[in-house]
Amino acid sequence: MIRSICCIGAGYVGGPTMAVIADRCPGIQVTVVDLNAERIAAWNAPDLSQLPIYEPGLDALVGRARGRNLHFTTAVEAAIAGADMVFLSVNTPTKTKGVGAGQASDLRWIEASARQVAASAQGHTIVVEKSTLPVRTAETVQTILNAVPLSSVPGAEGKTFSVLSNPEFLAEGTAIADLQAPDRVLIGGEDPAAIEALAAIYGQWVPAERILRTNLWSSELSKLTANAFLAQRISSINAIAALCEATGADVGEVAKAIGADSRIGAKFLKAGPGFGGSCFQKDILNLVYLCGHYGLHEVAAYWQQVVALNRWQQQRIARLVVNRLFGTVSGKRIGVLGFAFKADTNDTRESPAIRICRDLLEEGAVLQIVDPKVSERQLAQDLGQPAGAGEGSWQQVAEVQQAASGADALVLLTEWQAFAEIDWAAVAAVMRRPAWLFDARAKADAAAARAAGLQVWRVGEGADD
Ligand code: UDX
Ligand code: ADP
Repeated sequence: MIRSICCIGAGYVGGPTMAVIADRCPGIQVTVVDLNAERIAAWNAPDLSQLPIYEPGLDALVGRARGRNLHFTTAVEAAIAGADMVFLSVNTPTKTKGVGAGQASDLRWIEASARQVAASAQGHTIVVEKSTLPVRTAETVQTILNAVPLSSVPGAEGKTFSVLSNPEFLAEGTAIADLQAPDRVLIGGEDPAAIEALAAIYGQWVPAERILRTNLWSSELSKLTANAFLAQRISSINAIAALCEATGADVGEVAKAIGADSRIGAKFLKAGPGFGGSCFQKDILNLVYLCGHYGLHEVAAYWQQVVALNRWQQQRIARLVVNRLFGTVSGKRIGVLGFAFKADTNDTRESPAIRICRDLLEEGAVLQIVDPKVSERQLAQDLGQPAGAGEGSWQQVAEVQQAASGADALVLLTEWQAFAEIDWAAVAAVMRRPAWLFDARAKADAAAARAAGLQVWRVGEGADD
């Protein structure tokens, strides 16, 4: 019976997951720890609009459970020592240097947290891998944990560990709904008692038939595979979008037609500026690395192409904006509508907007960026330069109207609902003519924009002529 949980990592996965567990399991004390004191302070902010992560519904959950059975602290060791179960929810970005650079995951944070668990745990502890990890990482974690009793750490004798893989399938922007009603929960492991202890926690709100038990490696590989399949669908529809533009078909109509086939299914067929987010690219690159490691070079090349097409889609959009604006955007104002990698999140990791904006800045554009949730600090970090003025600069603005002011074009990159409700007559009135709307999400009311005198390019929409 689990009474106390510690989660290492108060990020996009750890924070919302623990908020839902605390909400659904009032008998369990849940402590979320992080080395980042600023992040923990934000999780403890009295004003719930200041939480470090924006997710619809998260503030209400935290408001209910915080201080009761949900705690946020930097006291990592004490929280581990008091826990029956420890979740590892630390970041695992793609390595930027050394062996496997550009493909393999950087496991330094996983290793460090496993070492912390090894050092501070008491008695029997179930260690749950929550971060997306390359296949067979559980083995590494297990090896680190098992090394402890041999060391000279006082009190090490009584320590035992069971390692489980419990990958998270939540999508940002719908994290709370996904956690509250998951399609499935996957628990991989070798120790039946540990598996059942974790299953009992989810069993508080997830129907039994949705809790799947597998071996460790199947669980780890299922997560990578699910993300690879989803990303592949997006590259597939984006590839067809380009063909639609060239031939006069409409990708929305094609998506609807193929999605009606129950074998294909209607979801995840929206053409756009390419996929972003912390998982898709990283997980595919992990798969590519793994395939290469096992000598499966054709399989590696197959998955690599999904990432290559995604990069091409982003470059293609930046290029076509420049081309339609008479081949130069130097000194021209361009309004950028949306910067987060998708709507309803403040997360910009791998956002297609980063590459597209960087390309436009390189061409000398003056960007006026509006996003309801992304901070100026984040924009500066992602664009590699502070806000400024003149050629090749950017500024953050609060309203679409300001983004349009004096602009030759608006480029819609994130599908925020507000962008579907733009007053095009008002916007067109403040733009420089000829004015363009480049809608990379097919989100705006194109008919209204055209009626207001704008020229419109829409992803996947072929010209009739
Ligand atoms: C994804 C997986 O969905 C989730 O199961 C996993 O746990 C983490 O990775 P996330 O990255 O949060 O979640 O968002 P998701 O909704 O999957 O979108 C990923 C990217 O694909 C976004 O940039 C989104 O805009 C794009 N996308 C999605 C499309 O371009 N078209 C679509 O039809 C769907
Ligand atoms: P994710 O999207 O996977 O949740 P994030 O980067 O949002 O990833 O969150 C991971 C968090 O884990 C970060 O806040 C980071 O500070 C924290 N972290 C990494 N290593 C450790 C560690 N050894 N101990 C405590 N926290 C850690």
